Amino acid sequence: MLSNSDLLYLLMSRKPWHSLPQAFYTDPDVYQADLQNIWQRDWIFAAPSAELPKGGSYITLELGTASVIIVRGMDGVVRAFHNSCRHRGSRICSAQKGTAPKLVCPYHQWTYDLDGKLLWAREMGADFDPSAHGLGLVHCRDIAGMIFICLAENAPDTRDLEAQAARYMGPHDLANLKVAHQSSIIEEANWKLVLENNRECYHCSGSHPSLCVTFPDDPNLVGADDSTTSNAGRAHVDRCEAAGLPAKYVIDASERWRFVRIPFLGKGVSYTLDGKAAVAKRVGRVPFDDAGSCLFFHYPNTWNHFLSDQVLTFRVLPVGPMQTQVTTTWLVHKDAEEGRDYDLKRLTEVWIATNDEDRRIVEENQRGINSPGYKPGPYSQVQEGGVNQFVDWYCRTLQTALMGPARIAAE
Ligand code: FES
Ligand SMILES: [Fe+2]
Repeated sequence: MLSNSDLLYLLMSRKPWHSLPQAFYTDPDVYQADLQNIWQRDWIFAAPSAELPKGGSYITLELGTASVIIVRGMDGVVRAFHNSCRHRGSRICSAQKGTAPKLVCPYHQWTYDLDGKLLWAREMGADFDPSAHGLGLVHCRDIAGMIFICLAENAPDTRDLEAQAARYMGPHDLANLKVAHQSSIIEEANWKLVLENNRECYHCSGSHPSLCVTFPDDPNLVGADDSTTSNAGRAHVDRCEAAGLPAKYVIDASERWRFVRIPFLGKGVSYTLDGKAAVAKRVGRVPFDDAGSCLFFHYPNTWNHFLSDQVLTFRVLPVGPMQTQVTTTWLVHKDAEEGRDYDLKRLTEVWIATNDEDRRIVEENQRGINSPGYKPGPYSQVQEGGVNQFVDWYCRTLQTALMGPARIAAE
């Protein structure tokens, strides 16, 4: 069992601008440390709010041993609860998603309202107080149409994120979109390899023929730095901003999240094989078709693309030390009709292929790292600034949590 000081020693042994030592991608103790210190402390993207379209719509998700229900109340508010009955602890919902007028525990049928209140418990005696046995609340925010949860007792502040999300995501009006398609795949790799792969396009030209039709692999546009350092990026940002569409690169002080709007290649307006729109109805208040893609990442578990004709959300969840689930959701205007305004295959084929290509790359990355021959290797300063930025964030966040006063006092 690795102690906190072993983990800190491992963190110190990382060479700057190099991939991490093997244990960070393979060791079950490091994985547990990641769950406790990052996944169960930080804000985690759970679902686009369009995935919970009406009162009673719910999803469940598992974060390590924590099981969480996220449900829209009849008042329209989305709330999150521990998926653990206040009687003897049974999981209440075992399905990954569904609709329910009440939350009924399958064991002895204790029945909860969608706001977590205990409504009914059979033969518990005159002294029993239902109001003291509501479901345990988990922090939950609807941030411009993306639902985030946080398992920490004191959740990190989200005011800056909410302000910027309103500016950058607001024009895409996520509240008036619907889920056109969702795919969930399992990648046999540590979650950090999935994130690292997302944070560079060094691999794109060799792996993603369909994505590269419109997505630029220029590191100045999609890497760690301000995209306006490239001419195409600057011209696009200026044009969008002049039309009232926020586009400038913005990153928060802890470097956990970033927004930037980048142009597509040539005359491309979407992720399609001919570069043309996949959906006839533009989303929200985006002023023109060729608005490119607004890129939003939020560590540890989401990257997203906001286009003129669709919104793509990506949710990463760790399943095991070397297993990760990636869920992609395609959102379109709620009035867009399949067959008339969009063709589902055309809408989804580029990212279904890209996700599968990424899965294969990341799984090979994991297999090679598992080998005794693995040694941390150097990042390209030109191409892999984004990977370095993510790994730096990870190391800083884990180190701060391991050294924090709360943890030291608890040990
Ligand atoms: S454990 Fe839920 S009703 Fe008994
Ligand atoms: Fe990729």
